[in-house]
Amino acid sequence: MILLDGKKIADEILEKIKKEIETLKKTTYGIPGLAVIIVGSNPASQAYVSKKHKIALRLGINSRVSELDEKTSQEILVNRIKSFNQDNHVHAVLIQLPLPDGFKTWEILNHLDPEKDVDRFLPINLGNLLLNRTEIYPCTPAGVLALLDAYQIELRGLNAVMVGRSFIVGKPLASMLTNRNATVTLCHSQTKDLAGLLRQADLIVAAIGKAGFITPDMVKKDAILIDVGQNFLTQAGEVIRLCTPSQQKRFEKKGVAITGDIHIDAFKKSSYYTPVPGGIGPMTVAMLMHNTLQLFKRKTRQETS
Ligand code: GUN
Repeated sequence: MILLDGKKIADEILEKIKKEIETLKKTTYGIPGLAVIIVGSNPASQAYVSKKHKIALRLGINSRVSELDEKTSQEILVNRIKSFNQDNHVHAVLIQLPLPDGFKTWEILNHLDPEKDVDRFLPINLGNLLLNRTEIYPCTPAGVLALLDAYQIELRGLNAVMVGRSFIVGKPLASMLTNRNATVTLCHSQTKDLAGLLRQADLIVAAIGKAGFITPDMVKKDAILIDVGQNFLTQAGEVIRLCTPSQQKRFEKKGVAITGDIHIDAFKKSSYYTPVPGGIGPMTVAMLMHNTLQLFKRKTRQETS
């Protein structure tokens, strides 16, 4: 049972990016620019955006956050995206999801310049990912693979079960694992006999948003367990049932605990596992910074060639 320390690996990646930006500043006289748009006041989204902004600034990225009220019209949001498309100081744009009810996500996202799509969610970017014709990947799936790579875990031939079919995590990650020669089963809420499929898995990735959903009886001995879930618990009973002592401590201090989709007792059966928090969360942020830097370098290359 080896803990995959996402916080440590993410910090190492961030340190490298910071050094590279310092060098680029001297040689290209430019700095990467990241614009994050957030609509409404979802507390979890606000916390994620604030974290991304702070880390970007620390690395020397020209980071800005554009906040819009949830009563904003779709047209104002689209105009904000278009103005970032035009802005030469902005190389990467992220629209924090989910958007509040009533916003038509794809009508909006499709206005973003695909070259500035730092999440790589747009059809052309996801299509290239499917075809294994890209080097820039959606942040959370990229974070999962970077963490597995950091621990030199070989994916070839593994029986991988991906639980969750969102375009943010499940669908791209299932393709990326396939491109890395794993045999992938993509499961979701309608899957028959999920427990039976999970019991055959060498690698389980959980991205469903249900605290403690995957229980020890669903996990094969020595499976690799990757937990993408970040569930916020506020009920003491749930916290006692589903949380580690350190998660419980956070609850005592702040009235909220964060836990994953995999039950904490399942980790005891694993060969490797990711903690929540401190696993995939920090890796996702590190990959956002990585993608921002890659988009800046691409743009600079295009301009000088
Ligand atoms: N909401 C949750 N995860 C993500 C992500 O990776 N990108 C965006 N844009 N929104 C999210």
